Amino acid sequence: MTAAGYFPTTNSMYNMMTGVEPEYRGRGIALALKLLVIRCARKYGVAYLRTNNDSENVPMLTVNRKLGYLPVPGKYLLCSICL
Ligand SMILES: CC(C)(COP(=O)(O)OP(=O)(O)OC[C@H]1O[C@@H](n2cnc3c(N)ncnc32)[C@H](O)[C@@H]1OP(=O)(O)O)[C@@H](O)C(=O)NCCC(=O)NCCS
Repeated sequence: MTAAGYFPTTNSMYNMMTGVEPEYRGRGIALALKLLVIRCARKYGVAYLRTNNDSENVPMLTVNRKLGYLPVPGKYLLCSICL
């Protein structure tokens, strides 16, 4: 699955959560899903498309880099378990 939201005020789209069942991972399914969102964004004629990525989530980072998403300053979360 993947989900996208369109925001008319900024004419932008946001590709939120993407997920692939564990037994189907590593077959390019996430890449294909996120390409469908890009196709959808083009149909809407958006000014820009955003997504978020945990910096330690290597598979998602790999897909997003492949698709040309550019990193920008993000949120830094402190994990209470790590403190
Ligand atoms: C992230 C997720 C959606 C990726 O789905 P997927 O269908 O396996 O992704 P793809 O097969 O399209 O691509 C994954 C890429 O990461 C690479 N990869 C996976 N694990 C890796 C690792 N540990 N180190 C380096 N590369 C890795 C794969 O080799 C592949 O790249 P390649 O095609 O160049 O070989 C899936 O792992 C998932 O559902 N995770 C849990 C939910 C989640 O974290 N979602 C993201 C937050 S919204």
